[in-house]
Parts: sequence; structure tokens; C-alpha cells
Amino acid sequence: MYRLWDSIVKPLIYELKPTHIVEVGSENGFNTKLLLDYCISNNAKVSAIDPFPLFDVDEFKNIYGDKFEMYENLSHDVLASIENYDLILLDGDHNWYTVYNELKIIENNFDSDSFPFVIFHDISWPYGRRDLYYNPDNIPEEFRQPYEKKGMFPGENKLLEKDGFNNMLYNAIEENTPQNGVLTGIEDFIDESELDLTFKAINAFHGLGLLYLKNEKIDDIITNILNNCDLLASLEEYYLKNIITTKMDVNEIVETKDKLINDIFNISDEKEEVINDLNSQINLRDQEIDKLNSLLNHEKHILNQKENKINKLNSKIENEKRKNSLKNKKIKKMNSEINNLKKYNSKLKIQNDEILSSKSWKITKPLRKLNNSKN
Ligand SMILES: C[S@@+](CC[C@H](N)C(=O)[O-])C[C@H]1O[C@@H](n2cnc3c(N)ncnc32)[C@H](O)[C@@H]1O
Repeated sequence: MYRLWDSIVKPLIYELKPTHIVEVGSENGFNTKLLLDYCISNNAKVSAIDPFPLFDVDEFKNIYGDKFEMYENLSHDVLASIENYDLILLDGDHNWYTVYNELKIIENNFDSDSFPFVIFHDISWPYGRRDLYYNPDNIPEEFRQPYEKKGMFPGENKLLEKDGFNNMLYNAIEENTPQNGVLTGIEDFIDESELDLTFKAINAFHGLGLLYLKNEKIDDIITNILNNCDLLASLEEYYLKNIITTKMDVNEIVETKDKLINDIFNISDEKEEVINDLNSQINLRDQEIDKLNSLLNHEKHILNQKENKINKLNSKIENEKRKNSLKNKKIKKMNSEINNLKKYNSKLKIQNDEILSSKSWKITKPLRKLNNSKN
């Protein structure tokens, strides 16, 4: 709604001079702040209702003091308890059930001559004829349209399968059905109300609605504001800013995508380099292992040869040992024979000595001499 502040809402508020403003749906507080700035200079106050305000409520309280009251509730739960306001901005949950019942609560809270001025937002596309549910569980099932978290496109009755406007929100699957959308809620309320009401729709920036007790003075104020405000200029400015930012966004997206693709290629190049490096290292290792294996085989061969030699030598030694033991046996035998011969010899020597020393040998000595000389 704050986009319509300068052109319509601000001049209207400064003309109506409300003393107590209720704002349903504050979100990030942009509109709330603008309302509070009005309150400061006009001795008025704001009661804001939003179950999930996206701004620092305490900071607002510090700045605006008793000019600001925050209700962190659903509008249906708290609206009946707020009294004596002369302006209310309905920009909370954009669906038939919520808006229709917000208006019923307001109607019940006021006498027929004090119904407050109501400003609505989002009475045109996309939520004029299609429900949005911030939280579908807050809406009784019998008043809830079939919905999906999908986006919308102007002129398309069904939700889009991909992308589209507000595709992160729960949107009714179809539009233009009964009890569906903000504008339908307002119209159904007006049809049933006994009050003599005027409703004006301004189809810019998703649609601004103005609802008030019939009053020619207010009609003139509104006509005057609409005649003097350059809504087309604001729309053109918004349109241009949007397409330029969108183009910038698209360029940015393309640049980011290109950068990402480059990064991916760089990474894969780097990866390939690392892989190549690792492969060449593996090759070097393989070559080293091959060398070591052939060295090992060579050593094994040498070892085998040495073992063969040792075996041969061992068998030679065994042979020699056997020969030696045979020789030893022979030596032993010869030794015993020598001993025997020695013994025999000494026996013979004794016998010889005995013979030589015998009388017969001595007596026969001349005979032997004679015999020798003959020879
Ligand atoms: C479209 S935003 C309001 C924008 C705000 N008025 C502006 O112009 O900056 C709608 C807000 O309504 C609030 N909301 C949703 N359902 C609500 C409910 N039942 N009662 C009050 N606020 C509600 C959401 O939390 C959200 O912050």
C-alpha cells in the first residue's frame, strides 16, 4: 500500500484528519512509519495488527511512545476489542473470508453514523477475485478455496506450473468464483449491509479501495485528489524502475550463471591437472616398482645360484667325509697291521737275539765264516 502513499493515501489522510488509525497487516512497517509520521504532527495514534510483524516493534515503541500500539494477533481475534478509530487500513490476509468478516466486525463495533473510513489494498489483480492464504489453517474449511503454493499470471485462471507471481504463497487454484478474493468480500459485505456506503476502486498498484459512509464532501476530496495526483506518472516510474531492475537482475543472473559455468570449467580444468599430476606420479611409482621387482628377481636368481653352489659343495663335503672315514678305517687297519708286524718283529728280534746268544750259534760261527768265504 505504501506505493500509493504519496499519490493518494497521504493527501487523503491529511484531508480526513483521523485521530485514531488502525492498520491491519503491517509487514515490514513501511506504511506504519508513514502513518506514525502523520500522527506525530496531528496528535493522532496508530493501532497496528499483524501476527508476524517484520520490523523491530520495540524500536517503534521507543520512537513513537503512546502514539503506537502493536497487536501481534490475527485481525479477527483482536479487532472487536479496539474502539473509537476513524480510519482503518485493511491490508492483512487477502481472502474473501478474512476481509468479509473484518468488515462485519467493524460494522458491529460502530453505530450506523460512525462507521470508520476504510482503505483496502489488493482489490485488483491478483487478489481481487482470487484468495490468498498466509496460513490456510486460519480459514475454516467451508470458506477455503482449493489452493496450492504456485504462482499466477494475469489473464490465466489456473495457477502456473512453474514460476509466476507470488509462487511462494498459498493461492486459490481458480479465480472469479463465489466467495473468492478481496473485492468479492467487499462487494458481498456492501450487498448485505444496511449502511449507506460508497465504494471507490483505484486500479493501480494491485488496487486501492475506499469505503465510507455516503458523504459528498468526502466524494469531492477524493475526486480532487484523484484529479491532482499523477497516478500515471507514478505507475510509469514504477514500471520503468521495475523493468530496469528486472533487466539488471536478468543480466546479473546471466553473469552469475556464466561465472558459475566458468568456475565449474576452471574447477574441472584444475581437477584434470590434479588428476594428470596424480596419474604421472602413479606412473613413476609403477616404474619404480617395476625396477625394484626386476632387482628382486635378479637377487633371487643370484641367491638360487648360490644355493645351488652351496648344495654342490655340501654334497662334495659329504663325499669327502665319506672318503675320509674310509681312509681312516684303512689307516686304522694298517696301524693295527703295523703294530702286529712290530710285535712280530720284536718277537723275531728276541728270537734272533736268543739264537745269536745261543751256544750252538757260537759253535757254528767258524762254519759260517767258511761258508761266506766260499761264496
Ligand atoms: C501485504 S502485507 C502488508 C503490507 C503493508 N500494509 C504495507 O503496505 O507495507 C500483509 C501482512 O498481513 C499480515 N497478516 C496476514 N494475515 C493477517 C491477519 N489475519 N490479520 C492481521 N494481519 C495479517 C501478514 O503477516 C503480512 O505482514
